[in-house]
Amino acid sequence: MTFIEELKRRRTFGIISHPDAGKTTLTEKLLLFGGAINEAGAVKNNKIKKSATSDFMEIERQRGISVATSVLAFNYKEKKINILDTPGHKDFAEDTFRTLTAVDSVIVVIDVAKGVEEQTEKLVKVCRMRKIPIIVFINKLDREGKDAFDLLDEVEQKLGLRVTPLSFPIGMGYDFKGIYNIWEQKLNLFDGDNKQTISEGVEFKDINTPELDEIVGKKHAEDLREELELIDEVYPKFDKDEYLKGDLQPVFFGSALNNFGVKELLDCFIEIAPHPQPKQADTRIVKPEEPKMTGFVFKIHANMDPKHRDRLAFVKIVSGTFKRNTNYLHVRLNKKMKFASPNAFFAEKKQIVDESFPGDIVGLHDTGNFKIGDTLTEGEILNFKGIPAFSPEHFRYINNADPMKSKQLAKGIDQLMDEGVAQLFTLNLNGRKVIGTVGALQFEVIQYRLEHEYGAKCTYENLNMHKVCWVAPEDEKNAEFQDFKRVKQRYLAKDKEGKLVFLADSDFTIQMTQSKYPSVKLHFTSEF
Ligand code: G4P
Repeated sequence: MTFIEELKRRRTFGIISHPDAGKTTLTEKLLLFGGAINEAGAVKNNKIKKSATSDFMEIERQRGISVATSVLAFNYKEKKINILDTPGHKDFAEDTFRTLTAVDSVIVVIDVAKGVEEQTEKLVKVCRMRKIPIIVFINKLDREGKDAFDLLDEVEQKLGLRVTPLSFPIGMGYDFKGIYNIWEQKLNLFDGDNKQTISEGVEFKDINTPELDEIVGKKHAEDLREELELIDEVYPKFDKDEYLKGDLQPVFFGSALNNFGVKELLDCFIEIAPHPQPKQADTRIVKPEEPKMTGFVFKIHANMDPKHRDRLAFVKIVSGTFKRNTNYLHVRLNKKMKFASPNAFFAEKKQIVDESFPGDIVGLHDTGNFKIGDTLTEGEILNFKGIPAFSPEHFRYINNADPMKSKQLAKGIDQLMDEGVAQLFTLNLNGRKVIGTVGALQFEVIQYRLEHEYGAKCTYENLNMHKVCWVAPEDEKNAEFQDFKRVKQRYLAKDKEGKLVFLADSDFTIQMTQSKYPSVKLHFTSEF
């Protein structure tokens, strides 16, 4: 196969949802269709359960699973599909945001009974900002849920999407009969007892045929005809280009648990979802078909074995062919590196590979050279953009609890921050270190990992802060900025890159500060 054929057959995407909507179940069913696994239940649940807060072994176990399920790849109908795992738990939302920089499209899973939930709203917002093509899958149709049209309205309003259904349910819950596949003009009948086999579907080029009445009953047949007519009138026609531009989102209905509607979703997905796309770097846009290899690190995972501190850096290949034992430039460090055992991922296993193509993810063993956002090239100086840090929501001072181990503590903190577990800020006034996280769970993870992987002990002290803002003065020398620095000096700190941040205790403070110092812009992400 040529390089271009390899690139064109790749589909790299993420499945996002609020916890419990069915992301894991859907992932597993997709793997089942790809023949990558033989039985349901093979993909371990990668959910961080609430109980994990007090159960460190559980956190460790979850970390192990999440390495295994970070990338799930399989072949389906000549296409190579890479699913990137995105944690649904809100405390790990930043991990998900970063993973979204490495996908070319997403599938959003929504629970038919719960509708659009909080986490889905946040994640879809990020996708919309980046214009990532989105397919919506409404799940759990075997249960009583909201009316299909009401749900479509809700998706439009809450998620700000412009939807068009490509399938439509007949009945729901107890009375769920099946799904009409608008995309293929086929009817699939639901058989609740048959959770494993793939139903083939009856083709209906003309929905008005009396055969439909015989199959689903007169009432359901009439309802379906009316509903399809309404869909035709109310919703825009599906247009692949609009979908690819992020301006139109097709919707599918189904039940992942019952293996229903999943094949339709997958068949449409491989037809319409984009192959690897160009990516913006600081100096130019890099196209996937360029022969020279470029890629960037979007995730770092610490080794499970605490005795070996090596880590796995996940690199998304943007262009060219990544080859084993070949010299690449680590742009930030200006250092040539080669990798003897790059891992590729297949189903839930990883294996050493000689070549990877755009869209693929390779796992590189790392002893501390990489941090999130790092770029690899064949020599060109460029940095991929789009992995911003977001303002944390929880803050604590971190103190050394064992003076004999201060070096270990510093190294541990440094490496955990590179992995993106949390963010570190150093106060300008007294050099005290502040850890900022998205969720409270991370503080415990950090404490546990510092002790078990680095032999260092830390304690925390509460710090009542609300957000950090990255500070961007219009003019570093003007009197307003000088005044801002003097008045706010107690609240100013540097992030890990040395950028100036302002620690604010409330939204009110941010507003007041912004209106008092209009030329000093305050931003909620590190990239602006
Ligand atoms: P998540 O990864 O998005 O968090 O969700 P997950 O797939 O783990 O699914 C959450 C729960 O919803 C699971 O039940 C799962 O079996 C169920 N589920 C998924 N798809 C469907 C569906 O189409 N219909 C119905 N009725 N249920 C569905 P659980 O009891 O929490 O877990 P488990 O014990 O079944 O693993």
